Formats: sequence, structure tokens, C-alpha cells
Amino acid sequence: MRINLKVWRQAGPDKPGGLVPYTAHDISADMSFLEMLDAVNETLIKKGEDPIAFDSDCREGICGTCGFMVSGVAHGPEPGTTVCQLHMRRFKDGETLTLEPWRAKAFPVIKDLVVDRSALDRIIQAGGYTSINTGAAQDANAILVSKTQADSAMDSAVCIACGACVAACKNASAALFTSAKITHLALLPQGQVERMARVVRMVERHDGEGFGSCSNEGECEAVCPKEIPITNIARMNREYFKATLFSSR
Ligand code: SF4
Ligand code: FES
Repeated sequence: MRINLKVWRQAGPDKPGGLVPYTAHDISADMSFLEMLDAVNETLIKKGEDPIAFDSDCREGICGTCGFMVSGVAHGPEPGTTVCQLHMRRFKDGETLTLEPWRAKAFPVIKDLVVDRSALDRIIQAGGYTSINTGAAQDANAILVSKTQADSAMDSAVCIACGACVAACKNASAALFTSAKITHLALLPQGQVERMARVVRMVERHDGEGFGSCSNEGECEAVCPKEIPITNIARMNREYFKATLFSSR
């Protein structure tokens, strides 16, 4: 296969950027998207040019490190799939693809397709954990969690913090990410002690990082590689309402 690429190249955070054309030759349909970029980079390195910077780690859809826009869609056209799990068979020979970094005020570009997503880490630092001292580990059967409840918590806990939801949202909101973390802990017994304080701290940190508000567009849900539904955002709003209502009494 031959793939034409227009790739956002930007040497650093304060440097101007622009789309640069490249052609990827002899690409196997079985290659992953990132392997295709590796092949392009090998050619660039051989020519003495700067390779395209992009993030990746596990390359099996579990770590959340990869992510960029493929022709305007976060993680590309395959639903429920990270860009590292996207394969070239999804595209046509001779197709032209435009690759751009996540675009959001809270995600400044570091280089080319790499953005700084530490704002998501700071939302977690604000409350996405349990800090109660539980002593020694209990017998697993001592705290009963129903199968339905455990499954629902796990459906939210699968968020890999990739940031695609932010990139797809016209408000650059991280509401889906934040709500998935809040929901996961709100559904489990271990999350109850800090439940009220957690939602307030995390939502305030979200806003403080410069992410926008949710206006129910649903673009986040459409691109989320873990298919996390926006019902998580409804739960977060309910949790926040309850927490602020009780604290104002
Ligand atoms: S909610 Fe989905 S799109 Fe957003 S950070 Fe988590 S896994 Fe990525
Ligand atoms: S590199 Fe880990 S999810 Fe893509």
C-alpha cells in the first residue's frame, strides 16, 4: 500500500507548526498505524531528517499513551480502538491522511503529535484515589459487592486516560475522563468515605486546568477507545450536586 500523509510538525511548544506532506511506501495492510509511522521515521532518519514525534508505550490498547487525530477523528476511524490498535487494512491504497495532535488549551503541544497531558494526572491527584487507612487486607468475601455493581464500576475503571474525549469535544472538556474516575470509585464500598470531597475536588481541578464544560455533544463517547458512555457524566453531575448541596447546609 501507499499512504499519503500530511503530518503536523512543530519543533517545540513555542515554535510555529504546520502540515508537512510525506508518502509511506510499501506499507503492509497488516501493519499497525504506529508501525506505519515507524517505517516513515526510518526513512526520515536514513535521510538525516528529524523523525515524527508521537507517543506510544504498550501498543496494545491498555496504557493510554498513544493518541492523535487521524483525518479529524481522535484515534482514527475504527470505533472503540486506540491508534496503536488501528491497522492499515482499514485504509485504502493511495489514501491521504492528515495527522494532528490533540487540540486543547489544557494539552499544550510538546512536539509534533505529542502533547502534555499532565493536566489529567493533576485531576487524579485532586481526588481520584482512596486514602483511608484500611489496615491489613480483608478477606475478599468480607465486603460484598454485587456482580452488577462490580461490572458497572469496571466499565468506568477501564478509562486509560488517553485524552481522546478532550480532543473530540468542541469545548475541550475532560468531563468523560473525570466522570469515569469519579463513577468507578463512587460505585465501590472503598470509595464511599471520601465520595463527597472527591467529586468536588476533582471537578474543581478539572475546571482549574482550563478544560471546558460539558454541553452534551456526545463526541467524547463516540471516540472513546474504551466506549465509556456519557451516563458517567450524568452521574458526576449528580454526585457534585449532592456534595455541594450537603456542604452548603
Ligand atoms: S474517557 Fe475514554 S477517551 Fe477519555 S481519557 Fe478515558 S479512555 Fe480516553
Ligand atoms: S500505546 Fe498503549 S494504548 Fe496505545
